[in-house]
Amino acid sequence: MKEQMKIIAGSANYPLAEEVARYLKAPLTPTEVKRFSDGEIYARILESVRGCDVFVIQPTSPDVNANLMELLLTVDALKRSSPARITAVIPYFGYQRQDRKAKPREPISAKVVAKMIEAAGVDIVMAFDMHVPQVQGFFDIPSDNLDVIPLYVEAILKKKLKDVVFVAPDIGGVARTRTLAKVMDAPIAIIDKRRSEQGVATAEHVIGDVKSKTCILVDDIIDTAGTITEAASILVRHGAKDIYVMATHAILSGLAIQRLQEAPITELITTNTILLPKEKRISKISVINIAPLLAETIKRQHEGTSMGHVYEELHKKNMRKK
Ligand code: R5P
Repeated sequence: MKEQMKIIAGSANYPLAEEVARYLKAPLTPTEVKRFSDGEIYARILESVRGCDVFVIQPTSPDVNANLMELLLTVDALKRSSPARITAVIPYFGYQRQDRKAKPREPISAKVVAKMIEAAGVDIVMAFDMHVPQVQGFFDIPSDNLDVIPLYVEAILKKKLKDVVFVAPDIGGVARTRTLAKVMDAPIAIIDKRRSEQGVATAEHVIGDVKSKTCILVDDIIDTAGTITEAASILVRHGAKDIYVMATHAILSGLAIQRLQEAPITELITTNTILLPKEKRISKISVINIAPLLAETIKRQHEGTSMGHVYEELHKKNMRKK
């Protein structure tokens, strides 16, 4: 696009947006976001965006509802200011886990949120590691589900781990785990998780060989860390030698940090799709920086060039190190 690029940082992950803007050599467009005393949110764009190609960076991480509302109001404010195009960059896209009616009379929250984002006036959506790729189908506008696998591969190769098996902590995570295992030429195992009630996970069986292996649990989200810590305990009971976790979105709510500290997990490797507050930065957690990849994605979206090439290059670079 020949139109000027503008980057807007929502308040959910300002450091990420700042870093992306730095890579792109595009200063952040100033905004004003405030809360009224009753909790309502106000958002205003402080300079003209007329005719511009605008990217709003705002994960809908906790405080989920406030961050979602801020995104919607920012997009509405933009829409009324005549930009050429609005791209919502939602590194972590909340409400995705409720993506189907699993019980009678439940909402499909992911669809509701997709429709809200679309109705606000967004033209394109970008998100990292969606819960399931089918969520893209809830949008009738273009949506990109950005892959983190090459970044994970790079991190694993650096560790030079031996006898690795990639483990899906539940059936829903098999596709993601298999993709990573395939690139790394490693086997997979699956934990048969049974969830008894919301927020409480009980894991039971392991399908595959984990005895004396370095297990890498792969998940999209760590919320209360119930799933992953339970999975780690089961792996220990099945003779795992060492356990690592790779999970893209570190929500880490409730007892998560305490659980991670106490769990038989050597390291949690996550990303900065969600801003990790200081009090959650424990030594067991390392963070992969997605800013360079996100900046490249935005640049290519702006220029109208393919993203596939970037992923091919990352893949080739990783394979040379293998
Ligand atoms: C579930 O389908 C997801 O992929 C995650 O495994 C889950 O959301 C993690 O939640 P928690 O950390 O609270 O167990």
